[in-house]
Amino acid sequence: MQIITTKKELQAIVTACKTSGKTIGLVPTMGALHAGHASLVERAVNENNVCFVSVFVNPTQFNNKEDLAKYPRDIKRDAELLQRIGADFVFAPTPEEMYTAEEMDSTFAFDFAGLDTMMEGKMRPGHFNGVVQVVSRLFYLVQPDKAYFGEKDFQQLAIIHHMVERSSMAGTFGNLQIVNCPIVREESGLALSSRNERLSDAEKKTALAISKTLFESLKWAKEAGATVAQVQQRVIDTINAVEGLEVEYYEIVDQTTLLPATGFEHAIGCVTVYCGPVRLIDNIKY
Ligand code: PAF
Repeated sequence: MQIITTKKELQAIVTACKTSGKTIGLVPTMGALHAGHASLVERAVNENNVCFVSVFVNPTQFNNKEDLAKYPRDIKRDAELLQRIGADFVFAPTPEEMYTAEEMDSTFAFDFAGLDTMMEGKMRPGHFNGVVQVVSRLFYLVQPDKAYFGEKDFQQLAIIHHMVERSSMAGTFGNLQIVNCPIVREESGLALSSRNERLSDAEKKTALAISKTLFESLKWAKEAGATVAQVQQRVIDTINAVEGLEVEYYEIVDQTTLLPATGFEHAIGCVTVYCGPVRLIDNIKY
């Protein structure tokens, strides 16, 4: 496995892969890798001739400086894990290598077709702009045949699908296929997240109420006459009743348009909860 830090080196390797007809899989990450990322990388290794993993804590998608500063970073540990799984190349650039000072401070022009107006987009202004900026740059640099993303960040995935569909009309990313990968959970039900590293043991126990409530809500949705609004409120009330947890939003939306769901078919419930100072997200498909 080779660690690359410059775009120039990366592009030379990508060109060599393309020239020899190798298929490329890309797993974009911000590091602090866990079993959820490992499942994406394993899939990328199995389904492509060459697997690239990017490890880059993207400053332009953080609207909170403290969150950016506190984001866990451990490239040595990440590299060891990636080597064990069989990744071929790790792209770990500095922010200065990825962006000019001007790019770092300006808004990336992109038409989200409204997909950024709710949930994470509403709570974290500019977040998806930074995500689209970095992901489109990674696609441009690595030219993957397949790119792998976890369903935990469901709104992000919907936006990336939209970005690729729009740009494939112009042929920008060739035949790039976005591969959705299911949420990986601890045996307890807690969705794996790099942010879990910031939870104390006690907070981790408290956080279990999030996934437990989401799973319970599948039953509530099946109760006679249950409406989306009722189930939504019941989830919020149940989680908020747990000391140490505070729901920021719980929205049951259509899986494609992300607009408020009118029924449970093709619907997904997306939640964000503060567990102490740590912001956790999770979701459940109805
Ligand atoms: O999901 C993430 O870790 C990030 O948003 C991504 C896709 C790697 C872009 O920085």
